[in-house]
Amino acid sequence: MNVLVVGRGGREHSIVSKLNESNKIDTLYIAPGNDGMSEQATCVDIDETDIEGLVQFAKEKNIGLTFVGPENPLLLGIADRFQENGLKIFAPRKEAAMLEGSKSFAKAFMKRHQIPTADYETFTDAEAAKAYIKEKGAPIVIKADGLAAGKGVVVAETLDEALQAIDAMMIDKTFAEAGTKIVVEEYLEGREFSYIAFVHENNVFPMIPARDHKRAFDNDEGPNTGGMGSFAPVPDISEETLAYATEAILQKTADGMVEEGRPFTGILYAGLMMTADGPKVIEFNTRFGDPETQVILPLLKNDLLQVLLDVLAGKDPQLAWEDQACVGVVLAANGYPGSYEKHLPLPTFEGSDVFTVYAGVTGGKGGLVSNGGRVLLVGSKQPTIEAATQKVYQSMETALTNNSGFFYRKDIAK
Ligand code: AMP
Ligand code: GLY
Repeated sequence: MNVLVVGRGGREHSIVSKLNESNKIDTLYIAPGNDGMSEQATCVDIDETDIEGLVQFAKEKNIGLTFVGPENPLLLGIADRFQENGLKIFAPRKEAAMLEGSKSFAKAFMKRHQIPTADYETFTDAEAAKAYIKEKGAPIVIKADGLAAGKGVVVAETLDEALQAIDAMMIDKTFAEAGTKIVVEEYLEGREFSYIAFVHENNVFPMIPARDHKRAFDNDEGPNTGGMGSFAPVPDISEETLAYATEAILQKTADGMVEEGRPFTGILYAGLMMTADGPKVIEFNTRFGDPETQVILPLLKNDLLQVLLDVLAGKDPQLAWEDQACVGVVLAANGYPGSYEKHLPLPTFEGSDVFTVYAGVTGGKGGLVSNGGRVLLVGSKQPTIEAATQKVYQSMETALTNNSGFFYRKDIAK
């Protein structure tokens, strides 16, 4: 079977690496991919958002299954268009991807189905939002309704910060149309984890939990980023909590979507806060997490293509996981998530104990240079989290000089 993956980052590099282990694939394509993954898949120069171009390509190359990495194509209706053309795709239709595409939709959905989440109100009027915030007090959380590339959330410690966030989103339009509507929500205290599942209609098959480190600098300081490192599984989250989250969050969500006539097929990602009252939803994504995928997939024992085909066929894929731990640390260009330099030469990470996942890179064989803020991830799979962490940092310390132009967090998984 020919298989097409859509996307270009580290998450997609992990997905093609895992799919590449399958002996059922004739040719594996990635659109557009990056030069760091060209040994695992054939890169095709079609943008993720060029839906008609992707449909055309899938027809021409007789693609048997398409898998989508990022959210943008989902909200542009890639699954709808592929299905209309009789093409098999593992991805939610646009109306189901609204769980990620609209925070107000997701919140109202959770309320309708009694899925545990923070209390909230939705606003389209800045003055009304401000009045509500003054009544509730800080800390409080303000979210732009639409997609804002992970940057549309302000966790305000003070009332002033909260009011400024309203001005930025609703009056200055920092996130353009994504900020026309906002969600103001109760601040939840606890530890976060990502709980991700393969879903097809009422069937839910959860993966092992992972934790992502979103702030740029050590000790969770600095601005929010796309993610600076991750590990899986998560020792402080109990089996009992996971069983509860599977039933009360993932399964209820899948069932609720079916009930509402917008059945979900694809990857359902619940960003959860482990509060004193149990796990509560912070956000839904309708795709794999980045960089969680980079530490979850290496622990999956199954053939990923077979898993996707089984799930689509309504069968239990019998997921099996290695009894090990995986840690990944992101190497970013100095200045990220603000402005940064590109075309920096890349270090190489020695040792059979570590693997490299490429995100923002370009260039030919042997001559890769950086081409983004988050450049690559160094990962390791070991019997324990401690051992994996040590291998990753050993390799990074050896490879990197002080003036490499890159930085990374020193406290991932610690
Ligand atoms: P989101 O884009 O919704 O994942 O939000 C980004 C980050 O903001 C999350 O990973 C949390 O760390 C934080 N956050 C979002 N919502 C809340 C909340 N209700 N309470 C506390 N922290 C939150
Ligand atoms: N790691 C968080 C995300 O993918 O949204």
